Amino acid sequence: MKNIDLKNTFLKFFESKGHKIIPSAPIIPENDPTCLFNTAGMQPLVPYLKGEKHPEGKRLADVQKCFRTNDLDSIGDTTHHTFFEMLGNWSLGDYFKEDAISWSFELLTKHLNIPVNRLAVTVFKGNDIVLQDVETAELWKKVGIKEERIAFLGEENNWWPNMELTGPCGPDTEIFYWRSNEEIPEKFDPENENWVEIWNNVFMQYNHESDGTFKPLENKNVDTGLGVERVTAILEGHTDNYKSSVWKDVITKIEEISGLSYDDEKNTRAMRIIADHIRAIVMISGDNAGIKPSNTDQGYILRRLIRRIIRYAKKINIDINGNWEQVLAKIIIEKYSKYYSELETNKEIILQVLKDEKIKFNKTLEKGLREFEKATSSLENKAINKEIAFKLYDTYGFPIELTEELAIEQGLTVDTEGFKEKFAEHQKKSREGATQKFKGGLASTGEMETKYHTATHLLNAALKNVLGNHVHQKGSNITAERMRFDFSHNSKMTDEEKQKTEDLVNEYIQMAIPVEKLEMKKDEAIAQGAEAMFLDKYGDIVSVYKIGDVSMELCGGPHVHNTSELGHFKIKKEEASSAGVRRIKAILE
Ligand code: ALA
Repeated sequence: MKNIDLKNTFLKFFESKGHKIIPSAPIIPENDPTCLFNTAGMQPLVPYLKGEKHPEGKRLADVQKCFRTNDLDSIGDTTHHTFFEMLGNWSLGDYFKEDAISWSFELLTKHLNIPVNRLAVTVFKGNDIVLQDVETAELWKKVGIKEERIAFLGEENNWWPNMELTGPCGPDTEIFYWRSNEEIPEKFDPENENWVEIWNNVFMQYNHESDGTFKPLENKNVDTGLGVERVTAILEGHTDNYKSSVWKDVITKIEEISGLSYDDEKNTRAMRIIADHIRAIVMISGDNAGIKPSNTDQGYILRRLIRRIIRYAKKINIDINGNWEQVLAKIIIEKYSKYYSELETNKEIILQVLKDEKIKFNKTLEKGLREFEKATSSLENKAINKEIAFKLYDTYGFPIELTEELAIEQGLTVDTEGFKEKFAEHQKKSREGATQKFKGGLASTGEMETKYHTATHLLNAALKNVLGNHVHQKGSNITAERMRFDFSHNSKMTDEEKQKTEDLVNEYIQMAIPVEKLEMKKDEAIAQGAEAMFLDKYGDIVSVYKIGDVSMELCGGPHVHNTSELGHFKIKKEEASSAGVRRIKAILE
């Protein structure tokens, strides 16, 4: 079964069945402030699953960059990854169960040459909303899956994504592969871990509304997902994903740099974590969204990943001050640029991000570890209290998860709840400080800053209108003399686009629209389409500024009462700010 190029085989196969191959969407969702990362191939396609027309038609297939944080703690075993590639095919109101099932079967058994005897499937057993999926089971039998290899399971297993999340969803059928040299049992037992899931076919026919109801979608869709890493390992006959061609070059390089062997149990887990995380780091920092290590959102995940590989590198005797991380990152960049060209474009940024964060953390890691030892050597009840955990975070840059990991290794516990409280207190204090500063600034010169503040909302709305919905605010800076506005967009604006944007803002001003302040629940604001730059920054009840039908943003204000107060808006300059982020300087005259 060796030497099958899985991605190519998959895409070519679906192309032959009338599918258009679309490029992977960025790993950072472009249009969804509620979600930090794309976690499945369907995520960027949600509007089309809900009925919007896709420009490429009704049959699509792709390989999508995905990242799942819920798997972070499982990394180090044979099958889990943070970043992974998902192959998928979609029917947007076109073919349904019969074709989806027979094509999955055909691809697996005829093109990937997987013996039928190694396959089993799960099918939805039914609940209050949808009946047992007898049709799917019959279709599996028709293609050649034996009855004893079909298991009916409930909504916890065979409903995607789950019964809680809102959005398109439906019952699914999952395909399993017997990944073991032990004899293959006749009867399929989904609890037996030798059966590993390789492909999910979702029959997406409902939209879970925010009022809790399941509304049938106009279209019956198919949404599938097949994990590249897992299936590659299977095709190459490995029971450990990290032995497959996906990882071999990175693992070999880690062995070389450390002078240690992957097969020596003492090193295996650390090497897997480094291999997994370095790839995820490259993909996140190489995305055009321009994510940098920070203490919130995607930036925090990036920071955790980098700090984690440094600690594991140290564990396997790598000189952490050397250029090991650059060497490993370059392997990944080179290997994946042919699929994701932004990695090549952003290569220098990726390498710099890694280097800067490494230098920063290496300065305090050693001292932090000593502090950890000192603090834990005299513990009476084997519990690390919130003061120690917070000091490790605040002074030595230890993410709480790192302290927890260190604690587990030594059989200790951490007062994580206490840490979180302390952390929240600390954040509140610095936020109050920041608000104070903001207010202070405004109080001193007053009116103009307020006008500029409202102008940023109008500009944000105008840019979306002219450039597209991928535009989101990335930052702003206001003085009494001018405003600066950073936003996500990949290319230089043309003169025409600048003119249109400027005209549109002036139009909004002339329309004399009242600016309203509303208080509402955060979820409700998001559901109504409110813009928000940093979701986590806000509590459950948020203030939202609404400017007619033009704009709605989560924001603390202050703002003018009517757009007519702004005068005339003029763009002075448009330039690059960082990768994937543009900056506009503008004035009100
Ligand atoms: N969206 C489905 C999944 O991720 C295919 O499993």
